Amino acid sequence: MSDPRKLLSRGRMDSHTCILCHDAPCSKACDRCDPARILRALRFDNTDGAADLLPDDYDRSWTQEAENACPAGVMIGEILEDLKRRKPDLEGTAGTDKVDLSCDLCGVKMENPFLLSSSIVASTYDMCARAFEMGWAGAAFKTISMMTMHEASPRFSCVREPRGDWYGFKNIEQLSTYTVEQNMECIRKLKQNYPSKVIVASIMGRNEVEWEELARRCTEAGADVIECNFSCPNMETRGTGSDIGQDPDAVRRFTAAVRRGTRIPVLAKMTPNITDITVPAAAALDGGADGIAAINTIKSVTGVNLDTMVAFPAVHGKSIVGGYSGRAVKPIALRHIAMLASCDRIKDSHISGMGGIVTWKDAVEFLLLGADSLQITTAVMEYGYRIIDDLIWGLKIYLAQRNYRSVKEVFRSSLPNLVENDMLERDTIVFPRFNKEKCIGCGRCYLSCRDGGHQAISFDPETRTVTLHGSRCVGCQLCSLVCQTGAIRQSKRVQPRRKQ
Ligand SMILES: Cc1cc2nc3c(=O)[nH]c(=O)nc-3n(C[C@H](O)[C@H](O)[C@H](O)COP(=O)(O)O)c2cc1C
Ligand code: SF4
Ligand code: SF4
Repeated sequence: MSDPRKLLSRGRMDSHTCILCHDAPCSKACDRCDPARILRALRFDNTDGAADLLPDDYDRSWTQEAENACPAGVMIGEILEDLKRRKPDLEGTAGTDKVDLSCDLCGVKMENPFLLSSSIVASTYDMCARAFEMGWAGAAFKTISMMTMHEASPRFSCVREPRGDWYGFKNIEQLSTYTVEQNMECIRKLKQNYPSKVIVASIMGRNEVEWEELARRCTEAGADVIECNFSCPNMETRGTGSDIGQDPDAVRRFTAAVRRGTRIPVLAKMTPNITDITVPAAAALDGGADGIAAINTIKSVTGVNLDTMVAFPAVHGKSIVGGYSGRAVKPIALRHIAMLASCDRIKDSHISGMGGIVTWKDAVEFLLLGADSLQITTAVMEYGYRIIDDLIWGLKIYLAQRNYRSVKEVFRSSLPNLVENDMLERDTIVFPRFNKEKCIGCGRCYLSCRDGGHQAISFDPETRTVTLHGSRCVGCQLCSLVCQTGAIRQSKRVQPRRKQ
């Protein structure tokens, strides 16, 4: 049996022990390499990029001072030595300079597919300007309206992963607290100083007159695209936000009003709080929209304080249902994106995808399933604009390693493989294959198969070994999902010995 600590990929060599400091003390203390940047690349799934940043002649003595300076006690030397050991087996980053990430949003050129999504992260000139300088291709500005906003305090809550990162994030925030004129000034200045960046003006009206007027004013201020917010679930004013997105007639009517107010491209941002997102999305296209943005946040209650018995976030002993975003919503967002991209009425229109994108891998998944551009909020709120570094670099490395020259070559590539329920082959079976070298004898596979499967695994308490009984196994692969060491893989697909 190999070293269980290594097999569990936990403990001192885990880059998750790094808390991703701002102005990192470790890097300040090291004059031979940039440990904080390498650890951040590892953390955001850009292992090849991290290896590239590590000098070939790295020696553990270089990072002794960095370790001393680290407030979190991260074993930087061990992590970087491990990376150095793995480096020869990695695919490398050759060819990334030849990869073109440029694409377009309804004909508006984007230098890469990444936009800040409409929210607090894109709510002032300074914030957007800083993000643009760091590499974001554009921003969907925080939703502009003619309403006066009254925001609650506190207004966020989160569900954490065991290691501390946010798994999901709830907000009860509404729209921009700045006046229309203040927002127009921001858009004007951003467009003036960053002409190559894409400004998407998100708007919300209470009636057709307001929708039309807001579209007209944003266009005059220089916005490249209008995004209709038909999807905020947190509105105090009834008949706005996701109330509209759940009513295809209202979506059609208000999109038509926006169309009357502008000639620039119009995106309709849809709510996921609906059974079939394609119905209001198609109504938006009927009303004159050029594309669809999805998803806005999912109505949620993240939890309840067991002492006060009030849900989070609590304001004077009360809470409300709010919008859920971040990692947890990605599977739901991907499903909505795939539904939109598969719908005959919608598939030829631009789809701007969002909901839970944190790393370049998430981004690729959205592109493969139908998104033509990508938007992000929650990961920026948690980690800062700097995530753009590994989003761009990781995406470039992925494409270069597969000999793609342009990001557009992978758009929608997974879509043909997502089929209807009655189209899936259900006659053959894939048994689990156990790697005894990797097994640490925990018995988790036995437990799950016994209590949540088909009692196809036995466990010997003396030797702490497991045995598969093929005649009982249905090939569900539950065991491989619970195994913590990667000891269970899929074997070859075969015809079952008996009828399932
Ligand atoms: C704090 C917060 C404020 C938001 N405000 C807006 C908004 O003003 N307009 C809008 O269209 N979407 C708003 N959203 C939704 C996001 O733009 C995005 O659709 C959603 O959060 C999913 O993406 P994410 O998982 O990357 O955050 C907000 C989200 C958060 C977390
Ligand atoms: S100082 Fe420590 S915790 Fe902070 S970035 Fe460096 S390694 Fe991570
Ligand atoms: S889950 Fe099963 S195969 Fe995996 S380590 Fe535990 S006992 Fe071994």
